[in-house]
Amino acid sequence: MVGNWKMHGRIGDNATLLTEVAAGASALQKGVSVGVCVPCPYLAQSQALLSGSVVRWGIQDVSAHTGGAFTGEVAAQMAADFGVTYAIVGHSERRAYHLESPELVASKAQRAIEAGLTPILCVGETLEEREAGTTEQVIGTQLEAVLSTLTEEQAAGIVVAYEPVWAIGTGKTARPGQAQDVHAFLRRKLLEKGATVANVPLLYGGSVKPENAEELFGQKDIDGGLIGGASLQSKEFLAICRAAQTVTH
Ligand code: 13P
Repeated sequence: MVGNWKMHGRIGDNATLLTEVAAGASALQKGVSVGVCVPCPYLAQSQALLSGSVVRWGIQDVSAHTGGAFTGEVAAQMAADFGVTYAIVGHSERRAYHLESPELVASKAQRAIEAGLTPILCVGETLEEREAGTTEQVIGTQLEAVLSTLTEEQAAGIVVAYEPVWAIGTGKTARPGQAQDVHAFLRRKLLEKGATVANVPLLYGGSVKPENAEELFGQKDIDGGLIGGASLQSKEFLAICRAAQTVTH
């Protein structure tokens, strides 16, 4: 279960949130892994407060470059200096507002892997694409662009998150069956890359709340969640984490 704080947080509030999440996560069953992807300035704070806890921390994006004259960018290796485990790549907000292409996202995933980070590759269709019946084509292209640059072993080490763009921050959640259909499609695509790749964790993201978490995570191919708004409050986020430990599949 991974929280994506997006561009939220202030140093004082974070301390409370991180401490409460760490305390709550330690009471979860071993099968549930918990992470938080924070804004870059708070990586050091996350490292200080979460080291030694069961909660891992991550970055929300990395540069496609290893270093150099790229003002404002952050290299994966820099994040690694702060003990980071995860790097989200290809979030729909990056694809839409920063015009990131599938190829650029693939380079970012590669840089993350080289730095020893686990990429959380986000894929998802817009409402127009869903209504045009092109969901699988869009998601297949986003996934394939990354998989084609990875070895089977590298691909087996990533995490994939399905986030329908129309469900992000809108309060509209994909129906569990709708999400499951896309997850099953992703699983088949991953299997084409290799038997071990088919086991990568598949997260669902898009308006996950304590009220809908159990039904979503109960779906066969939904292994966890990438949580936006609800990850900013420890009570909500931990309730979602607890919902995950009640399901078995
Ligand atoms: P919300 O949970 O706020 O819809 O955000 C989902 C998301 O984009 C997580 O990466």
